[in-house]
Amino acid sequence: MPTLITNIKELLQIRDGSVSRVSGSEMKTLPTLKNAFLLIDDGLIKDFGKMDDLYKIPVNEVINAQGKMVLPTWCDSHTHIVYAGNREGEFVDRINGLTYEEIAAKGGGILNSAKKLQQTSEDDLHKQSAKRLEEVMALGTGAVEIKSGYGLTTEAELKILRVIKKLAENYPITIKATFLGAHAFPSEFKNNEEGYVDLIINKMLPKIASENLAEFIDVFCEKGYFSIDQTERIIVAGKTYGLIPKIHVNQFNSIGGIQLGVKYNALSVDHLEVMTTEDIQTLKNSTTMPVALPSCSYFLGIPYAPAREMIDSGLSLALATDYNPGSTPSGNMNFVISTACIKMKMTPEEAINAATINAAYAMNISDTHGSITKGKKANIIITKEISSYGFLPYAFGSNLIDMVFIDGKQI
Ligand code: NIG
Ligand code: FE
Repeated sequence: MPTLITNIKELLQIRDGSVSRVSGSEMKTLPTLKNAFLLIDDGLIKDFGKMDDLYKIPVNEVINAQGKMVLPTWCDSHTHIVYAGNREGEFVDRINGLTYEEIAAKGGGILNSAKKLQQTSEDDLHKQSAKRLEEVMALGTGAVEIKSGYGLTTEAELKILRVIKKLAENYPITIKATFLGAHAFPSEFKNNEEGYVDLIINKMLPKIASENLAEFIDVFCEKGYFSIDQTERIIVAGKTYGLIPKIHVNQFNSIGGIQLGVKYNALSVDHLEVMTTEDIQTLKNSTTMPVALPSCSYFLGIPYAPAREMIDSGLSLALATDYNPGSTPSGNMNFVISTACIKMKMTPEEAINAATINAAYAMNISDTHGSITKGKKANIIITKEISSYGFLPYAFGSNLIDMVFIDGKQI
């Protein structure tokens, strides 16, 4: 039986099914309907319109959204939420003056998380990760991409990907899995990088593909991590198994990762804290979605992706959390939107577009998520009573979410 939401102060992000992403000046527009209704049936958006045009229909439940906004749930296209423990110690080390790179160089960082994860059972890892997933769902996230990458052995990478699969089976939220074996070189391969690249290509990838455990392949393409040549070989191998590339690029240095991503039709290139004019030019007219991760910049105190320059050059932009234990221990998309407005000078319209329609594109779910469109999943947020949608990024730190629906059911 259907659910009807009535008297919606403003229904946000109404789109025609043909729109899969918005770019450049289009990002300034957020299509809305004031004083609206929304009808949910069978987990999908059945209809919406002006209250004046509401017709009689037998429904199960009516929700009065007087004074409230209704919008599609956030899509978080970049996370690493399957990890073990935390890195609070390194947080304090950074407060005391060490840099993220210095901590990584002395065996901390990703290797520290990998050690913890290797010693954690699959069950325990599932429990820890489920808690994070429940937390982000309550914060309005209705679809999430999750990467492996804190295993760094065949066994531990498989453990992460199996946990992701189990989460996808046990929770209503849409989950997309990414294989990120190329996240860092394990210490035993410190002087044998080729050995690890070989392990990824010839051992991990075939196993992951045969168990159908991932849809995307990622590489941390960065100085001190994976070079352009190594990244290229790994994504090419991934593509032979049908995995679509989504790459970590330009976090600290611009070394050609964007050019590589575009060359291989990466679905997205993520981080982008350091961008050259050439990098921006390369992304023009490509199918690759640039993804910015402002909470990572906030937490590490590194530059923010130059969103203004990118959008003003006509590019699309998506926003994601990067939820992980080292650079972003937060999965709060509401904070991401606020930070994008406050620190990256995106307008509320641009930030909401970046976290919904463009974010859905960055995880290949535009057909079902990212907008209020008839036939798409009824994944929606009902806010508390607020003055306008600009209040969402403005009142940073406040929880303005009243209800979250995933597949038409309140969570
Ligand atoms: O996206 N940059 C690479 N990977 C993660 C952080 C890894 C870590 O510090 O644990 C990121 O920021
Ligand atoms: Fe990341």
